[in-house]
Order: sequence, then C-alpha cells, then structure tokens
Amino acid sequence: MDAARAAGELMRRHRRAPKRVHAATQHDLKLELDVRCQRLIERRLRAAFPDWGMLGEEGSVSAAAGPRWVVDPIDGTVNFAYGIPHACVSIALEVPAPEPARRPVVGVVYDPFCEELWTALRGQPARLNGRVVRVSERTRLAEAIVSLGAGKRLRAIRHMVEALAGLVHRVRKLRSMGSAALALAYVASGRFDAYAEIGLHWWDIAAGGLLVECAGGRFEVREHPDAGFELLAHNGRLGPRLKRLLPPVPPQT
Ligand code: IPD
Ligand code: CA
Repeated sequence: MDAARAAGELMRRHRRAPKRVHAATQHDLKLELDVRCQRLIERRLRAAFPDWGMLGEEGSVSAAAGPRWVVDPIDGTVNFAYGIPHACVSIALEVPAPEPARRPVVGVVYDPFCEELWTALRGQPARLNGRVVRVSERTRLAEAIVSLGAGKRLRAIRHMVEALAGLVHRVRKLRSMGSAALALAYVASGRFDAYAEIGLHWWDIAAGGLLVECAGGRFEVREHPDAGFELLAHNGRLGPRLKRLLPPVPPQT
C-alpha cells in the first residue's frame, strides 16, 4: 500500500509537467516516469521482502519459487502522458498454487488523482478507501455500463470495434477509459457492470481481478499464446448474455 501510494504521489506531482517519452508506437507510449515509478515501488517492496520476485511492466526480478509481486507502475500511461487524470498504480502479490499456477492473494489499485485506494485480500471483502465495496446488482443488459478496452495492437483493436458494434445498442453505455486496472476496480465497486478486452498483460489485470472476485464478481480470463490475456469481468449476473454478444478472438494477421 505504501509502495502504491509513493508511486501515486510521484504521478500526482508530475500531472501537469511535460513527460519524457522513452518509446512511442502508434497506439502506445512508454514514459521515463513509468520506469521511475517502478523503481520506486521495487525499492520499497525489496526493502521489506528482499527474497520475493517481481513481474513488472518495466522489468522483472526472478526468484526461485515463493511469492511474486505483479506490478504495473502506471496503468493508463497514455492518459497520464496527455494530462488526463485517469491512471493508477496496480500491485498484486501472488503465491504459487497448483491450479492456476499463480494465484493473487493481495491486490492494490491506487488512483492518485481521485485519491481512491482499492484493496483486496483473498477471502475478504474488497475495500475502497477502507469501506467495503461490491459489484453491481444490475441484471438487465439494457441498464448496464460496459467498459471495452481498445488495446494497442491491430488485432485487439479490431476485436474491440466488433464488440462495440455488437453491444452498443444493447447496453445503456459503453465506456473505454484507458486503464484496465481502473476498469476492474470500477467493476468491483459497481460503477461498471462489466469490462472486456483482449491482448492484455498479466500486470494490467492481476490486482484488479482479485478486487472483482473479492467484491462478489466474476473474473474470467484466458491466456492465448499469441494474443495475451482475453478478459471478461462482470457482476456475476451479465456474463452469459455478454458472452453471446462478444466476438471470438480474431485470427492473427
Ligand atoms: C494499458 C491500459 C489500457 C489497455 C491496454 C493496457 P498501460 O496499460 O490498461 O487501458 O487498453 O491493454 O496495456 O500501457 O497504460 O500500462
Ligand atoms: Ca497496464
């Protein structure tokens, strides 16, 4: 929590400052601040737990077995780079498990711009700034807000466009806000009823997925060797109908 708050503070301090871009593609940016935030998180976590490994968007530290941190230092980097205050820090802790191979047991998502800190401990209710949150109770798709992630690669974007066409007239609103971890935190808090995206990385969704489960929702995730993680998170009521409307993962081009 401490590490997430420290990185969030760094993001907040730089909210309006020009950002140094390390790398840019058509649909993605890597910032110097992504790296600085991860280093800060790494220092804090390694000071407290020197033997544990880390899977991070800006590099990983391997460890034999044992627990592993999963860190997205800035989720929503493009928003942050453009001065849009919708981005967060996402940290999960996983322990080895027989099935699935890795199992998040702690999840923290921190939005430094709204000062919202979501926390989850497996087996306990999810919390937002200390207060218990739950997924929505909406059962009608026509009243639902569904978030669709746009992704970064052509394949994911094509999938999103198809999903949008299939859903836009069936739901109350579609949203695509640019942070996978916050989309999951919003599902966990009942703001969104569901969230779907393909082409995700584990660090985008490990903490948020635990939040959704601890808030009573469903986190349905499938790893494709060539298309990253395909995800549908929902309030536990809308899953079957959404699955009928969402397109299959498109073939690679
Ligand atoms: C991205 C954001 C975005 C999602 C992408 C992610 P980043 O992470 O979560 O919402 O659509 O798939 O990779 O690059 O901002 O950390
Ligand atoms: Ca991310």
